[in-house]
Amino acid sequence: MAATRIAAVAILLIFISASFSRCLANHLADDKLALLDFISRVPPSRNLNWRSDTSVCSDWTGITCDSNRSRVTAVRLPGFGLNGQIPPNTLSRLSALEILSLRSNGLSGPFPADFFNLTALTGLHLQFNSFVGSLPSDIGLLSNLTLLDLSHNLFNGSIPFAISNLAELVSLNLSNNSFSGELPDLEFPSLKSLNLSYNHLNGSIPASLRGFPASSFSGNDLVPVVPVNPVPTPAPFPPPSRKHHHKLSEGVILGIAVGGCVLVFAVLAVVLVLCCGKGGDNVVIGKGSKGERSPEKVVSGRQEERNRMVFFPGCTFEFDLEDLLTASAEILGKGMCGTTYKAILEDATTVVVKRVKDVGVGKRDFEQQMEMIGRIRHENVVELRAYYYSKDEKLIVYDFYNQGNVSSLLHAKRGEDRTPLDWETRLRIALGAARGIARIHMENNGKFIHGNIKSSNVFLNNQQYGCVSDFGLTSLMATTVPPVSRNAGYRAPEVIDTRRTTQASDVYSFGVLLLELLTGKSPIHVAGAGEEMVHLVRWVQSVVREEWTAEVFDLELMRYPNIEEEMVEMLQIGMACVARMPEQRPRMADVVRMLEDVRRADTANRPSLEIKSDVATPSQIPSTGGPSPQN
Ligand SMILES: *[C@@H]1O[C@H](CO)[C@@H](O)[C@H](O)[C@H]1NC(C)=O
Ligand SMILES: *[C@@H]1O[C@H](CO)[C@@H](O)[C@H](O)[C@H]1NC(C)=O
Ligand SMILES: *[C@@H]1O[C@H](CO)[C@@H](O)[C@H](O)[C@H]1NC(C)=O
Ligand SMILES: *[C@@H]1O[C@H](CO)[C@@H](O)[C@H](O)[C@H]1NC(C)=O
Ligand SMILES: *[C@@H]1O[C@H](CO)[C@@H](O)[C@H](O)[C@H]1NC(C)=O
Ligand SMILES: *[C@@H]1O[C@H](CO)[C@@H](O)[C@H](O)[C@H]1NC(C)=O
Ligand SMILES: *[C@@H]1O[C@H](CO)[C@@H](O)[C@H](O)[C@H]1NC(C)=O
Ligand SMILES: *[C@@H]1O[C@H](CO)[C@@H](O)[C@H](O)[C@H]1NC(C)=O
Repeated sequence: MAATRIAAVAILLIFISASFSRCLANHLADDKLALLDFISRVPPSRNLNWRSDTSVCSDWTGITCDSNRSRVTAVRLPGFGLNGQIPPNTLSRLSALEILSLRSNGLSGPFPADFFNLTALTGLHLQFNSFVGSLPSDIGLLSNLTLLDLSHNLFNGSIPFAISNLAELVSLNLSNNSFSGELPDLEFPSLKSLNLSYNHLNGSIPASLRGFPASSFSGNDLVPVVPVNPVPTPAPFPPPSRKHHHKLSEGVILGIAVGGCVLVFAVLAVVLVLCCGKGGDNVVIGKGSKGERSPEKVVSGRQEERNRMVFFPGCTFEFDLEDLLTASAEILGKGMCGTTYKAILEDATTVVVKRVKDVGVGKRDFEQQMEMIGRIRHENVVELRAYYYSKDEKLIVYDFYNQGNVSSLLHAKRGEDRTPLDWETRLRIALGAARGIARIHMENNGKFIHGNIKSSNVFLNNQQYGCVSDFGLTSLMATTVPPVSRNAGYRAPEVIDTRRTTQASDVYSFGVLLLELLTGKSPIHVAGAGEEMVHLVRWVQSVVREEWTAEVFDLELMRYPNIEEEMVEMLQIGMACVARMPEQRPRMADVVRMLEDVRRADTANRPSLEIKSDVATPSQIPSTGGPSPQN
């Protein structure tokens, strides 16, 4: 009895282990077949000892298997004279592959699309081949990559933003290709070495990459990063229309008498003098990317008169173009409309200068739009101070807000020891931004569109309410649909098809901003290591549908008592704004009313948000550890 039972168990065990090892062998056999398929269609010109009757793991050149010899984990065939395109469905079947080196061959064609199935890859070395075409944004799927070398090929097109999904990346070499366009604001937490040299990249180097040496970027058309406090160089621009260096203090004195915006400038100036010398990566705005504006182009007096900076009334402060172009500047960010700089003038006045690119309208239309934008005066709208238009250069000057934008207040240094953005401030940001947008929507007979609402375009005014910037510029652009960028998560679904922004799409973008304030999450983000991209709106909708509403709120908000009800109300407003159909969304004026009601409901035990911000003093504003200035 017992003997037969033991025999039965033994037979079962033998059967199990046999099928187990057959399963292993099958994986290895599949890998072997995939490799043989590959070299039968891309025959190496150097002798390669790969034969079907020898052992892949022990006999084949360039092959490494895992420790129990069940899978092929590395293929290294450097300089084996492999020519032509990589046939699809060959190497991509090596699903356990961690290292693939095919460097120094004659491989051509586009980046093999099926390589994106090799998700275990940690090292991909394709340098010194002849690959062509653009790098697909699916590259972001290879999330285990630590080494990526595509240098010395013929890749072109722009560097996809999705490459910043490669969070494990330690070394990235894209040098000696034909990549063009501007560098996206790439952030790699682990990157140690970077080489983007000898491409056709232009624009400026994003702040996130400025820690790398100049030789990482040489051989491009990138704006050089000049060390701190560069000596102002004469601007290679039309000569200044007015000389005002010595008149500035006069202007400031006059301005203080007049009050208004000059006071803001003066305060900023003092702040800047006080925190002077904090360094940073400075550039000179006037230094064109290619030096294409040669001094020979200096224009006559008449043209000079036509190409003056235009200042808006109410701002007695004046500087001229040369002051601006030779100012020490720091790149604040890049958006779909151009690059934004913080410029510190010689007298320590700070302004924000936006260099608008890809303008698709003529001078007349540009000026009309600027006039319309400049007319909007509201405490929750960042005012336009001045603009400049010439054939080669379009500049827009705004006030500088020293606390930084809401995106950085909300997301910067997460996980580190940071002062969280408290609930009161978030409410004020939402309410202020809503009021500002509603004001913008009233302009042009109620037809004006902001067009670019996102947290990085919202600032805190001196009453700590939200204040919106960067509006009305999308209609000036040659292309209305921004490239794959951080804007994507704010774009209403219909904008993707119609390529037109509307007031209803503004409401959608504002709804995304509300969800961002509530969740502390970016509109598009990657959850967990190697996981999928999460679309904030869809995520919130699905969590709320499952009635786990409390799960959506930012953990940083959990420390504030008695705010749950307000958060839920604001969530409902946000959800209404991101309704799929534009006609189902509330209008901005209604959104303002709804947000005002969030706090009105329990004004008894809380200070009201209804304090007009122009009479509020900082002491009246309830704050539990407000945000600290960015710098
Ligand atoms: C074979 O080794 C790898 C690691 O080298 C391991 O992940 C895998 O589970 C092992 N397989 C078996 C069947 O032992
Ligand atoms: C990737 O693998 C999946 C299944 O593993 C397969 O269906 C798909 O066709 C593969 N993609 C490519 C591009 O080979
Ligand atoms: C990254 O590698 C680990 C282990 O090699 C694997 O478990 C994981 O699935 C890989 N990631 C992806 C996205 O395939
Ligand atoms: C990239 O090169 C291919 C030819 O190799 C060309 O068809 C394509 O237009 C180029 N793309 C860009 C953005 O230059
Ligand atoms: C590419 O850059 C990395 C890091 O900078 C470097 O280790 C590698 O040798 C470079 N490759 C080539 C072909 O120069
Ligand atoms: C890289 O490209 C540049 C410009 O085409 C060239 O001068 C340089 O020699 C190339 N580097 C190598 C190592 O081929
Ligand atoms: C960068 O180059 C592209 C063409 O490759 C051009 O359209 C764009 O205007 C350039 N940007 C700047 C800032 O020079
Ligand atoms: C980048 O590559 C270029 C050309 O191959 C080389 O001259 C330069 O030193 C490299 N820079 C870095 C930081 O590796």
